[in-house]
Amino acid sequence: MTTQETIKLFDKYVIANYGRLPRVIVKAQGSYLFDADGNKILDMFPGWAVSGIGHCHPKVVEALRKQAGELLHIDNTFYSEPQGKLAKLLSERAFGGKCFFCNSGAEANEAALKLARLHTPQEKYKFITAEGSFHGRTFATVTATAQPKYHEGFLPLLPGFVYVPFNDIAALESAFSDEVAAVLVEPIQGEGGINVATEEYLQAIRRLCDENGAVMILDEVQTGIGRTGKWFGYQHFDVVPDIITMAKALGGGVAIGAMMANKEIAA
Ligand SMILES: Cc1ncc(COP(=O)(O)O)c(C=O)c1O
Repeated sequence: MTTQETIKLFDKYVIANYGRLPRVIVKAQGSYLFDADGNKILDMFPGWAVSGIGHCHPKVVEALRKQAGELLHIDNTFYSEPQGKLAKLLSERAFGGKCFFCNSGAEANEAALKLARLHTPQEKYKFITAEGSFHGRTFATVTATAQPKYHEGFLPLLPGFVYVPFNDIAALESAFSDEVAAVLVEPIQGEGGINVATEEYLQAIRRLCDENGAVMILDEVQTGIGRTGKWFGYQHFDVVPDIITMAKALGGGVAIGAMMANKEIAA
């Protein structure tokens, strides 16, 4: 099909919720994309941090081919060896927690928010998140995403979310109360512009969570899996969160998300 034919197909059958460039990508390899008009494009924007080791890395492709020929799906009433091994690999590279697997970053954040509520007493129902954040597009995670443009058309959002300016310790302190179940922030904000958390800020979150019996959740969906030079973004700072979430480069294009919680919360 030509580029124009594919675009027409989209116009007719695909909901236009995303803005798209007028190019149809037919193949990708390493750092390059190839379009339907025969152009080879240097990809300097690896799919919102999804293609962490480039497109279609031969080892990834080979592993997927092998697995597809053996087992594509089992329901969650069974055990699966690769899932257990992946959880072990992730645990050993982070703080020794236990994993929950899902399909996306938004679901991983949903799971983290729900686990924080389950772990804390019922009167703790509030979540603190930071202005400029991005945590996903499900109802809870779009509510957690403290950017008004993502809220337009969806009001009223879920109750209990409190937004504070990023890296502002005083604002965080005044937003805290014993009703807070969790703080959720990115160690480096991705969509909000590359805003790096200060060590003091992350340590203040740690201290306030400890003092108030709240859970410290770091959204590592963009910063995880080696994207910042360490396995996880938080490892650049002298702080250990209770829960991290990841997705994107974890699958390199295959739909997977994970939440890791420390063993006490995981229980
Ligand atoms: C920091 C962060 N968290 C969560 C998400 C949502 O991930 P997904 O698109 O896999 O649901 C994104 C996506 O861009 C993200 O950048």
